[in-house]
Amino acid sequence: MIKLSSNLKKFKPFLFEELYRKERAEKAKGKKVISMAVGDPDIPTHPEIVEFALKESQNSINHRYPNTKGNQNLREAAARWHKRRHGIDFHPHDEISILIGSKEGIAHLPFAVMEKKDICLIPDPTYPTYKTGVLLCGGEIYNVPLKEENGFLPDIAKIPQKIVNRTSLFFLNYPNNPTGAAANTDFYKELVKWALKNDIVIALDAAYCEIYFEEPTHSIFEIPGAKKIAVEFYSASKTYCMAGWRIGWAVGNSKLVCALNQLKENIDSGQFNAIQNAVAYGLDNHERITPPIREKFKERALFFSQALKECGWKIKEPGGSCFIWAKTPVKCSSEKAAVFLLEKAEVLAAPGIGFGKNGEGYIRFSLTIEDELLKEAAEKIQNLDWSMI
Ligand SMILES: Cc1ncc(COP(=O)(O)O)c(C=O)c1O
Repeated sequence: MIKLSSNLKKFKPFLFEELYRKERAEKAKGKKVISMAVGDPDIPTHPEIVEFALKESQNSINHRYPNTKGNQNLREAAARWHKRRHGIDFHPHDEISILIGSKEGIAHLPFAVMEKKDICLIPDPTYPTYKTGVLLCGGEIYNVPLKEENGFLPDIAKIPQKIVNRTSLFFLNYPNNPTGAAANTDFYKELVKWALKNDIVIALDAAYCEIYFEEPTHSIFEIPGAKKIAVEFYSASKTYCMAGWRIGWAVGNSKLVCALNQLKENIDSGQFNAIQNAVAYGLDNHERITPPIREKFKERALFFSQALKECGWKIKEPGGSCFIWAKTPVKCSSEKAAVFLLEKAEVLAAPGIGFGKNGEGYIRFSLTIEDELLKEAAEKIQNLDWSMI
């Protein structure tokens, strides 16, 4: 008889898989269902990037194995982009590593920096993948609350010292999924000082860094000393609406980046070079390609948050990301609210509890649907009678 690993017991079904199942069940009953559960951009990849990838895919040189750490062309384009965007120099040889989507690097990083029983600090609410590698490598998780009254930033002074002493890694993410909060440089200064003092690796997930609604988002590497302890994760999925192409990159401390490469060399063989070169094209043309994407998400965020506020939802204005994180008009469990939305408004949204216990009472709406559908969803939600829940 096949005996599966006990590792599998550490995981519930991935949050979104469960949501997809519920959506399919409603659709099977003949309902339309507007899906606002998953952050999967509806905007097509820029035609010039697609054209470039098509041309590159016809070059037989690209049909051979890529290099695990990424081809030089893309690593150099990423280095040029970081210099233009944040004014920071990264060496393409050992400070940048190309990933098969940032999710892949995020899941693998704990294997490169944690020992069994080490603690990893993970925000609550959180993007679920931060737990994956930690659980598989025998590490422990300490949840750091993200509270609305703190602008959804962690209060690091409140983490008990005995936890800090056992911590080797801290995952953070700004602009934040699910809350939409952005971080300022004062917070990064405090974080870097604390991480240097306590010898803790900071993994800052910047997947939504180009979807900002006010001032441009910051990199932790703008803070002196950050390169001694930090790595950042970037993604083409939202920045260039390339979620299906599966590509991102890690950048930062060379020891961390090289450790990730060493691990990955034994696991994967990199992403298709045609896709890597297409992202290099995107990075070199970033200032032309990304503003319309950012503007579109900003327009949707303003419209949808206004529509929700008009019917009693409570929202802290998002600083970025493609999500609206909203408190339900009546006090109820987020799961109950999500089922109510699905059954009565035919809108599928993510219950906050799925992102951690501090997500209770909130619903996350993804803005990655066409404008017409967004309007329809807003109308249906506005017509809900919450006394029926
Ligand atoms: C916060 C966050 N980080 C990382 C990812 C993964 O992105 P990628 O498509 O680059 O793997 C996502 C995807 O939704 C995300 O929300």
